[in-house]
Amino acid sequence: MRKMIAAMLSLVMLGSLAACGTKKGTEKKDGSGKKTVGIAMPSAKLERWNSDGDYLRSLFEKDGYEVKLIYSDNDSTRQNNDILGMLNEGVDLLLIAAVDSSTLTKSLEEAKAKEIPVVAYDRLIMNTNAVTYYISFDNSEVGRMQGEFVRDALDLENAKGPFNIEFISGDSADNNARFFFDGAYEALKKYINSGKLVSPSGKTTFEKTATKDWSTENAKTEMTRRLSAYFSGAKLDAVLCANDSTALGVEEAIEESYKLKNVPVITGQDGDNENLKKLVDGKQSMTVFKNVRDEASVAFEVSKRLLNDEVPTGKLVESLAVDVKYDSESYNNGVKYVQSYLLVPTVITKDNLQIMVNTGLYQWDAENKYIESVNKQ
Ligand code: GAL
Repeated sequence: MRKMIAAMLSLVMLGSLAACGTKKGTEKKDGSGKKTVGIAMPSAKLERWNSDGDYLRSLFEKDGYEVKLIYSDNDSTRQNNDILGMLNEGVDLLLIAAVDSSTLTKSLEEAKAKEIPVVAYDRLIMNTNAVTYYISFDNSEVGRMQGEFVRDALDLENAKGPFNIEFISGDSADNNARFFFDGAYEALKKYINSGKLVSPSGKTTFEKTATKDWSTENAKTEMTRRLSAYFSGAKLDAVLCANDSTALGVEEAIEESYKLKNVPVITGQDGDNENLKKLVDGKQSMTVFKNVRDEASVAFEVSKRLLNDEVPTGKLVESLAVDVKYDSESYNNGVKYVQSYLLVPTVITKDNLQIMVNTGLYQWDAENKYIESVNKQ
């Protein structure tokens, strides 16, 4: 009897050991045997995430993978549930651009339990060891480019000043947003400290300048408020906007409420179609272009290796056709330094739009006046 119980016990143990070795995500409900990639994008409302989703989907599908692509309307609870749903249906890898960098605990625990690799796409996911890699642009560099653009446009090194500047930052739930702000502030700090650059609203910290959801509407409301409170007689020389969606709101506020007729220096990021027009029309001074097709291709290459049970390292960059650096020291998510692949952004003004056209992703219009993305959203 004892022998029988021992034999039964070892069978049970063998069974559970075998179960440990099986990634639950690979059990296909449709029986196709194809591996499935779950892609979670924050919101379909912003132009860039539509492009990212499209590029990623086509790269994986062309290579024979199944793709589940979800957008969660900038709602972090919904994104958590959407990811849980994908895990439940069965995915072999997750690629996530988080709505909120810190609130995916439940779904990430589930991914970890199922041994599904999680790659943070564009935005780092915080306080978890479930994330294996991070693919993004050099976020500090984006901010630095914006800050240095303002410095040079106002000739802060030589001009007497003082100049008035306002900061409109990104969403505080997005880990990138602080990197953008810090990068920009670092480039301007010296002039703020010396009084050459002044912020009449007194809002010169990330916390005080953050914009919920990166929304155009929220940026417009905030800028309108500051214009009426601090700029009834004062000149506005520059607005450091963290990206194009917030820049649009600022531009609308200026158009409607700013009575002094000078055009301030306005920064942006992403190269959204509407903002590219504003560059030509002189309503926005620059944008930082991040080639999302390149970002998607790096994410694809890293994911592919993970799906083949390989371990991507710094060496991978040598085989990639894009300008990207490997960095294992800059992005700490609170639990560990996440191995990162960081692409290089480019400053775009009305004078070098051809750079974007040369990527093949944008084209001139019939009058050769404006450019827009080839697959216009
Ligand atoms: C950031 C992203 C930017 C911008 C912003 C708003 O995380 O890096 O490119 O699009 O979100 O969606």
